Amino acid sequence: MIGLIVARSKNNVIGRNGQIPWKIKGEQKQFRELTVGNVVVMGRKSYEEIGHPLPNRMNIVVSQSADYSGENLITVSSLQEAITAAGKADIYISGGYGLYVEAIPIVDKMYITEIDMEIEDGDVFFPEFDKNDFTLTVGETAGEDIKYTRTVYTRKR
Ligand SMILES: NC(=O)c1ccc[n+]([C@@H]2O[C@H](COP(=O)([O-])OP(=O)(O)OC[C@H]3O[C@@H](n4cnc5c(N)ncnc54)[C@H](OP(=O)(O)O)[C@@H]3O)[C@@H](O)[C@H]2O)c1
Repeated sequence: MIGLIVARSKNNVIGRNGQIPWKIKGEQKQFRELTVGNVVVMGRKSYEEIGHPLPNRMNIVVSQSADYSGENLITVSSLQEAITAAGKADIYISGGYGLYVEAIPIVDKMYITEIDMEIEDGDVFFPEFDKNDFTLTVGETAGEDIKYTRTVYTRKR
């Protein structure tokens, strides 16, 4: 299973100045639940923002310049190589922009958390995609000051 995980604002922003532009208690719980025991794939900048491999899951960094390795950490030079390296495990593509662009045509499921806010000065956006290719399931809305809604887009076969 190839999955994609992202949280985006109402105006499609996913990043600002190298960071995720919000901190919402509980919002990252789903990310943990889905990826622990599986494989998470991220671009070099997203990995460097986190700064360390995420525990209890295989971390694959895509880069043509860096070469991270260690326990549960490898670097590959393309998304295809990451998919091959993951073998039969479930794989979750976790950004940023370029990897999402490449992944959308091949993903089975996209876990998109819709953050109920507008971000004015975002500099990384989630790519446009054809909603007709997917079946949308809307999940729970949660959050206190800032609300967020879980959605899953499952590819039509
Ligand atoms: N809201 C969310 O859910 C979410 C999720 C993830 C990230 N973000 C945000 O998004 C921003 C980072 O995203 P970004 O798009 O700027 O950077 P990114 O995708 O994390 O990293 C870009 C780098 O990844 C490598 N890379 C990506 N695709 C590649 C490919 N197909 N082949 C080879 N290398 C590839 C390249 O590394 P080299 O230059 O080393 O070759 C490229 O410079 C941050 O603000 C972050 O906080 C948000």
